[in-house]
Amino acid sequence: MKQILDQLEEKRNQARMGGGQRRIDAQHAKGKLTARERIDLLLDEGSFEEYDTFVSHRCTDFGMEENKPAGDGVVTGWGTINGRLVYVFSQDFTVFGGSLSETHAQKICKIMDKAVQNGAPVIGLNDSGGARIQEGVASLAGYADVFLRNVRASGVVPQISVIMGPCAGGAVYSPAMTDFIFMVRDSSYMFVTGPDVVKTVTNEIVTAEELGGAKTHTSKSSVADLAFENDVEALVQVRRLVDMLPLSARENPPSLPLLDDPDRVEPSLDTLIPDNPNKPYDMKELILKVADDADFYEIQEDYAKNIITGFIRLEGSTVGVVANQPMVLAGCLDIDSSRKAARFVRFCDSFNIPILTFVDVPGFLPGTSQEYGGVIKHGAKLLFAYSQATVPMVTVITRKAYGGAYDVMASKHIGSDVNYAWPTAEIAVMGAKGATEILYRSELDDPAKIAQRTKDYEDRFANPFVAAERGFIDEVIMPRSTRRRVARAFAALRTKKVELPYKKHDNIPL
Ligand code: HXC
Repeated sequence: MKQILDQLEEKRNQARMGGGQRRIDAQHAKGKLTARERIDLLLDEGSFEEYDTFVSHRCTDFGMEENKPAGDGVVTGWGTINGRLVYVFSQDFTVFGGSLSETHAQKICKIMDKAVQNGAPVIGLNDSGGARIQEGVASLAGYADVFLRNVRASGVVPQISVIMGPCAGGAVYSPAMTDFIFMVRDSSYMFVTGPDVVKTVTNEIVTAEELGGAKTHTSKSSVADLAFENDVEALVQVRRLVDMLPLSARENPPSLPLLDDPDRVEPSLDTLIPDNPNKPYDMKELILKVADDADFYEIQEDYAKNIITGFIRLEGSTVGVVANQPMVLAGCLDIDSSRKAARFVRFCDSFNIPILTFVDVPGFLPGTSQEYGGVIKHGAKLLFAYSQATVPMVTVITRKAYGGAYDVMASKHIGSDVNYAWPTAEIAVMGAKGATEILYRSELDDPAKIAQRTKDYEDRFANPFVAAERGFIDEVIMPRSTRRRVARAFAALRTKKVELPYKKHDNIPL
């Protein structure tokens, strides 16, 4: 008996060595951790339960039958993050470069199926040379099996991808269909076709880092949400994100014991808005002052900075924040910011996370590049996303809310439950100057008259009261009491229920 137990231990130890010490050393030399070291850091100590440790590939071509490492290049199973269940797969680059075989895919599919069934997030740690070249089409089939599960799991359980090495070719499409993508700077890249193919086809010379590194995807393409210095930082931040999310769409967001007073008053907010309406101010200051413990988990912070998206807690519970940022492009909406915010709103709505919107928006960005790029369709995504959302929504207009952008930014008309405005709010079809120049075109050669007309327009419309008179704004509030008002509004909305008519699914403008 003892011998049998020892054999098991011996087999396990062999499996834990993946592709062997030489390849583990090579992995470390690149500044990367191994698949198992990553899981150890991601999960609570001692919580990992591994599945399929001894699964091996079935390929018999290219002499592969002589080389059948246990686990087949991916470590899978479940564990906990601060006591809450998560499923995880971690590709092992030391085994056939982490490449995906038929059995490697089956292991991933198994934990995805269990995650959906049991209502827990899937976290994928990607480090792979792509399709297992020796297996050919069996590997492609395996990818497609994973893709289908990504789609089926979308909106059922949160899916988080961490790119910690190569991720190229069709392999990129599994992370692309998950809710969040994190990347590690200088050691990870994602592209559909690599630098060599790019050079052959387009004559462009570009490095892997420039083409698909963390900076490219977090600031240019928006494929990835956040970039981190190294594996450790990325995994710590995944833990922090999971702490804020419900485990599945069947649950509400988690609640922490309350440490920060929800009634906290912030007198400094009374002077946040500059006297000059064209001067910017930092909307993040408002977010931090409203949040519990000034804790803000920003998503896509390096992309479309004219809109801010991320998670805070209010009275201990997670709330998604969308806010125009007057510091960048005057906070206007454009193609990139509309897409960024629309996706965030849809994530929140999928997982019962209430949405808080701070509005200071002068309108949509004009120009041929915006129109040719389809700002109509992209802006419609945000409008669609808010209109479709049934989670509790609270909106605070701090300054400008002009034109169509007023409607789009979680106005009452498209489903926001509670709409507040600061006394500095200007809710109108457009700014006073633009409006008078259109209405009084015949007086344009008389600057004094136009100045008077502009002042008249400002006095009449550059305030929150015209909207408040119609009930479009529920209350004009003191900036200093924003945290208390918003927290109370969400508390009153905790039991919100909305029934929508039957449909198969909607047809969001893509
Ligand atoms: C089998 C692979 C492999 C693969 C790497 N290896 N990629 N084995 N299938 N796809 C093996 C190598 O043979 C090597 O084995 C070990 O992994 C490490 O690879 P190296 O090349 O030594 O590492 P490195 O120099 O770091 O380069 C990593 C790499 C490179 C850039 C990923 O290996 C590479 O270009 N691989 C091929 C990538 C590729 O073309 N994949 C298929 C793409 S098509 P030993 O035994 O020496 O340690 C695709 C389609 C998906 O993925 C479609 C989905 C629909």
